[in-house]
Amino acid sequence: MKQNVLIIGSGGREHALAWKLAQSPRIGKLFVAPGNGGTCQVAENIPIEATDIDGLVQFAEKNEIGLTVVGPDDPLALGIVDAFRARGLRIFGPTRAAAEIESSKAFAKELMSEAEVPTASFRIFLKHDEALAYIHEHGAPIVVKASGLALGKGVYVCKTLAQAETALSEIMLDHVHKNAGDEVVVEEFLDGQEISIHAFCDGKTFVLLPPAQDHKPIRDGDEGKNTGGMGTIAPVSWVSADMLQTFGQQIVRPTLEMLAKRGRRFTGLLYPGLKMTSSGPKVLEFNARFGDPETQSYLRLLKTDLLDILETCVDGTLAELVIEWHSGFAACVVIASGGYPDEYKKGVPLRGVAEAERVSSVVVFHAGTSFEDELKTSGGRVLGVSATSDTLRNALDRAYEAAQLIQFEGMQYRHDIGAKALTTAF
Ligand SMILES: Nc1ncnc2c1ncn2[C@@H]1O[C@H](COP(=O)(O)OP(=O)(O)O)[C@@H](O)[C@H]1O
Ligand SMILES: [Mg+2]
Repeated sequence: MKQNVLIIGSGGREHALAWKLAQSPRIGKLFVAPGNGGTCQVAENIPIEATDIDGLVQFAEKNEIGLTVVGPDDPLALGIVDAFRARGLRIFGPTRAAAEIESSKAFAKELMSEAEVPTASFRIFLKHDEALAYIHEHGAPIVVKASGLALGKGVYVCKTLAQAETALSEIMLDHVHKNAGDEVVVEEFLDGQEISIHAFCDGKTFVLLPPAQDHKPIRDGDEGKNTGGMGTIAPVSWVSADMLQTFGQQIVRPTLEMLAKRGRRFTGLLYPGLKMTSSGPKVLEFNARFGDPETQSYLRLLKTDLLDILETCVDGTLAELVIEWHSGFAACVVIASGGYPDEYKKGVPLRGVAEAERVSSVVVFHAGTSFEDELKTSGGRVLGVSATSDTLRNALDRAYEAAQLIQFEGMQYRHDIGAKALTTAF
């Protein structure tokens, strides 16, 4: 049966979701709220903010939306899934209680301890003086995290004690992350490569997506400040099928079981971020939604109709579906505004997207763009240039060839996306 679908959010992830859903033979009308300068080319943008839960419920009821897909974390933490379900509206994503696995790092750490999921050793603090005493006792390197949602800026990886002191005072005394910093997690520093695991969950079972790798720091060689993510590859060759299976059994399964045991059954997309340490994989955090930019690589490789997958997750019938992927690799290079992740200009005219998409296999997903009379920048991460090929090297070459054709004042991107994976032995 044809379905009208509403996607909530405005980033590259949402453009990728819209791009893929638009290909479904069962798609009826496709809407994105609020969307961006790319989503309006494959769907209809609706000027309702992602956090306007009442507005979104009303829109879904009025427009006979058969399925709503939540992109970002904040509507989940506000209880959008609970609100939709209360009205009998189908929605892909976890309830507010289940989404706490992302929106409260303290909750996630306690849950991991109880479920015996491997993670960095930690302590949780409500008081600054106690946290300060602990970091002095423990020493550096050490990691200080605001527990709540902090726009990706609440984590301080501290090489020195002085940095940890600054982190604690910013979070707990200056309240720079507002009440996201009411609770603070102080944890052991972990060394190793990071990978992103994604699992579709229907509340009973789960299916893993291929492993992906994001690149968080702004500059080549993993230097500089952390960002929302500057580029991804999928799959990651050195993560074998056996390793992936182990992550499923030792990380995803016990987490879902413990959530269910606590009356917080999880449906939607569970995304643990892992660090591959010398003593095995450890969970850095859980996200309760699709990764961005991971999704921009994943959806280039997904063969199965995404609408079928999302619906089986919502309906609890995921076990009946076979999910298929194209062979080969996908890469995504994020192009960001000058100055990002700090202050940056908006409204900068943008050229070269059509030319970039003429490079073989390339699709450009929009993140921070708007389209009125012309295409302009409107955010920190502006575009995700994605490409596919039989080999990772070729996919990367194509993405970079296309990235060179994009032009706007101040633009920046990393030149070493995927480089680590190319040189890691497997
Ligand atoms: N214990 C840790 N040891 C080393 N690096 C860490 C640790 N925890 C987090 N990081 C780094 O900080 C980044 C952000 O941390 P994360 O917990 O994923 O928070 P968020 O994505 O909510 O900002 C991680 O991707 C990782 O690079
Ligand atoms: Mg993270």
